[in-house]
Amino acid sequence: MLGGTRFVGRAVVDLALARGHAVTTFNRGRAGVDMAGVAVVRGDREDPGDLERLAAGGPWDAVVDCSGYVPAVVAAAARALVGRAERYVFVSTVSVYAGWPVEPLTETSPLLACPADAGADYGADDPSGSPTQYGIQKAGCERAVHLVWPTDAALIVRPGVILGPHESVGRLPWWLSRIAVGGRVLAPGDPSRVIQPIDVRDVAGFVLDAVEAGRAGVFNLTAPVGRDTFSDLLSWCAAATGAAAELVWVDDEFLVAAGVRQWTELPLWRTAPGAWAVSSRRALAAGLVCRPLADTVGDTWAWLQAGGVAAPDEQAAFHGIDPLREQQLLDLWAARSSS
Ligand SMILES: NC(=O)c1ccc[n+]([C@@H]2O[C@H](COP(=O)([O-])OP(=O)(O)OC[C@H]3O[C@@H](n4cnc5c(N)ncnc54)[C@H](OP(=O)(O)O)[C@@H]3O)[C@@H](O)[C@H]2O)c1
Repeated sequence: MLGGTRFVGRAVVDLALARGHAVTTFNRGRAGVDMAGVAVVRGDREDPGDLERLAAGGPWDAVVDCSGYVPAVVAAAARALVGRAERYVFVSTVSVYAGWPVEPLTETSPLLACPADAGADYGADDPSGSPTQYGIQKAGCERAVHLVWPTDAALIVRPGVILGPHESVGRLPWWLSRIAVGGRVLAPGDPSRVIQPIDVRDVAGFVLDAVEAGRAGVFNLTAPVGRDTFSDLLSWCAAATGAAAELVWVDDEFLVAAGVRQWTELPLWRTAPGAWAVSSRRALAAGLVCRPLADTVGDTWAWLQAGGVAAPDEQAAFHGIDPLREQQLLDLWAARSSS
């Protein structure tokens, strides 16, 4: 496990240990705590000497790379570990698609352009919100893996939004915490808008099933299109927290005109037509199981109640709307509706 102490990597480690696998984690010891039972190799993936020391500890059945964001950095790990494992699993993202979040997408949809040896400065966020430098660079990371590892030994997974216990981004933790406070809650857009978040434990399950089955190729990982709606998500948040919250659904147009930041100020709210139109049929046919969203919400609330905190990084702090601004927007919305 490259990483293995945060949200996604942690879930893969947790499940791998539960299935009786021997797990080695490689990280700097900063982001979190290694789980009991893993063999720890301390090191920085940006340091060639550390990668060499890691590679000497193999061989392994598989490398799972959850912490690759820069093509040149992923290329270095892919090269250092080729021949030291049977399989390289790269955790990518749906943001690699040129058409995200505008068009319906499958695994064969065109990808963003990025060289396999690009450095951290390559690319930039488009002012319109997409593409992002993150998506551009992840596309380059995929190319780096494919350049080094044979096609039948490389597995690329492209998750959409991932939720669940230990979430370090702060999306579902924010919604749960907000709804737990109660009162009038600004619920964005159309309540019947389809969403497709996937549970982190189901991402881990697919990755480990694929490793155990010797699978290669590229797979989108999202909940099936059309299964869940925004209203489902917020209603389950209300049910899980038991809060006396009144969901006030406010039009997209009103929120856009008010300058509310999509995706972050109201997490998961995005008006682009393809944000939740990613096909996961290939993964579902290969055995992906997506637990009910209600379970993801309930288990995340249980984790928060037990003292869980989203990782204290700048990303988590970036999510959620200011309470005063939320109530001002609701007042404006109520005044507009009554007139
Ligand atoms: N969250 C979502 O909704 C979502 C959606 C789609 C795809 N994804 C993908 O899912 C993955 C998220 O993975 P994650 O939750 O496990 O968290 P992460 O933040 O990507 O990875 C953190 C892990 O990597 C280690 N790490 C970071 N920099 C390192 C370095 N230079 N050298 C060695 N280790 C390093 C960290 O430990 P130390 O800091 O201690 O070194 C930690 O264990 C990403 O690849 C992301 O693109 C996420």
